[in-house]
Amino acid sequence: MPAFLVLHGPNLNLTGEREQAVYGELSYQTLNEQMFAWAEAQGIELRVVQSNHEGELIDALHEARSWAAGAVINAGALTHYSYALRDAIAAVGIPVVEVHLSHVAAREPFRRISVIADACVGQVSGFGHYSYVLGLLALLQLTKVDH
Ligand code: DQA
Repeated sequence: MPAFLVLHGPNLNLTGEREQAVYGELSYQTLNEQMFAWAEAQGIELRVVQSNHEGELIDALHEARSWAAGAVINAGALTHYSYALRDAIAAVGIPVVEVHLSHVAAREPFRRISVIADACVGQVSGFGHYSYVLGLLALLQLTKVDH
């Protein structure tokens, strides 16, 4: 069974509570449950990590080298300035898809910059919690896993 990492960055644990008009009303827990249900139906294993700390996200990516066929990351605001996270994505050698709940290109100017984008294989933004599933679907295609 292929395995993928889903990495949620800072403040994503408050999804469903914070700024609902921007990030939606679906809770963080339900978002993950829906992803797990989808992944099970596809016959893929998911491991989900959330951290509000840059170094923990980097550690999770490093660990994923040993078990994951790819990763989906919503780096939250780190997207816009974390060169360390960008370098970690470039370093691990597995395909990583950048995802966002909101349509970042249509928001404040600072959100239109992603310093991780060039290290990722692609970007999905603006589809709420479906952004994660679309990112996983892209990974499935990219890794051409048997399922
Ligand atoms: C976000 C967009 C970021 O700009 C923001 O800092 C977040 C969430 C999104 O999913 O839309 O925390 O990554």
